[in-house]
Amino acid sequence: MKKIKCIGLLTSGGDSPGMNAAIRAVVRAAIYNGWQVKGIMRGYKGLIRNEIEDFRSDSVSNIIQRGGTILKSARCDEFRTAEGRRTAYENMQKAAIDALVIIGGDGTISGARTFAEEFDVPIVGIPGTIDNDLSGTDLTIGYDTALNTIVEAVDKLRDTATSHERLFFVEVMGHSAGYLALNGAIASGAEAAIIPESTTGKDQLKELIDNGFRKSKNSAIVLVAENPETGGAFGLAERVKAEYPQYDARVTILGHLQRGGSPTASDRILASRMGRAAIDALIEGQRNVMIGIRNGDMVYVPFTQAISRTKTIRQSNVELVKILSI
Ligand code: F6P
Repeated sequence: MKKIKCIGLLTSGGDSPGMNAAIRAVVRAAIYNGWQVKGIMRGYKGLIRNEIEDFRSDSVSNIIQRGGTILKSARCDEFRTAEGRRTAYENMQKAAIDALVIIGGDGTISGARTFAEEFDVPIVGIPGTIDNDLSGTDLTIGYDTALNTIVEAVDKLRDTATSHERLFFVEVMGHSAGYLALNGAIASGAEAAIIPESTTGKDQLKELIDNGFRKSKNSAIVLVAENPETGGAFGLAERVKAEYPQYDARVTILGHLQRGGSPTASDRILASRMGRAAIDALIEGQRNVMIGIRNGDMVYVPFTQAISRTKTIRQSNVELVKILSI
């Protein structure tokens, strides 16, 4: 394998708080190891458009506390084409980049897997997504911060929900995964979480209402994962209006608020450890793996496993929401 002297670094897909902390760690760990670092702007799009800059240690000063990504991010359809990936490879060659470190979610890792199959380029991924939906890792960077944002919002909504004795459907992100909704519900004391993982053969809204969620109170907060399978917050509120008109339902969509803000200490530490682990992985000759954390340890997860969608929701946490909402 070619000796690595220079790495390229990019962030792609939906940004997540802590990406900057990961960028800082990758840049500094690489320079510590005697390597050069090139920052690729706007994810794969920047690689195709040749938006590549030299990064130094001070390029990443004063960013650990900032949300978003200084490298900017994009979703790039062109990288889905063979022609786009060829241009990206040629630009890498021109910039003398020997290996790539990519930070992002499942789309980013999928893109890297295809790229690595076509060209002989060592790539290491770092899981940066608020969704926590990558397999082989207990946590992804940004998830903890997003959970805290959800908790803060629900705490506020609870005041008005209680005052008006209303039912609130609060829609949170998560793509096809219910981690934010489920653990957000536990952390905020919400009455229920409606998640895509529990949709099979079950009408979660009916179950919730049949169980009498208002037994001990006259208001309720239900966290709903954005997903066609859950019906989304608006869909559920419409159903309540039609099927259970005795309830006064309202909808709040937290949307992109969840992706912003200063990362929590946990996300900063996770990002710092993962950034350094990505460089260690390349030093050890690893390629086409994503860094993960399992039981507190840094692990290498093959790309195929990372995007396999085999991570399951903890069933005992589904029960926990039910038990604690009586
Ligand atoms: O993948 C992260 C995520 O935040 C998802 O939860 C959400 O569905 C999506 O990004 C929204 O993406 P966009 O910013 O492109 O609207």
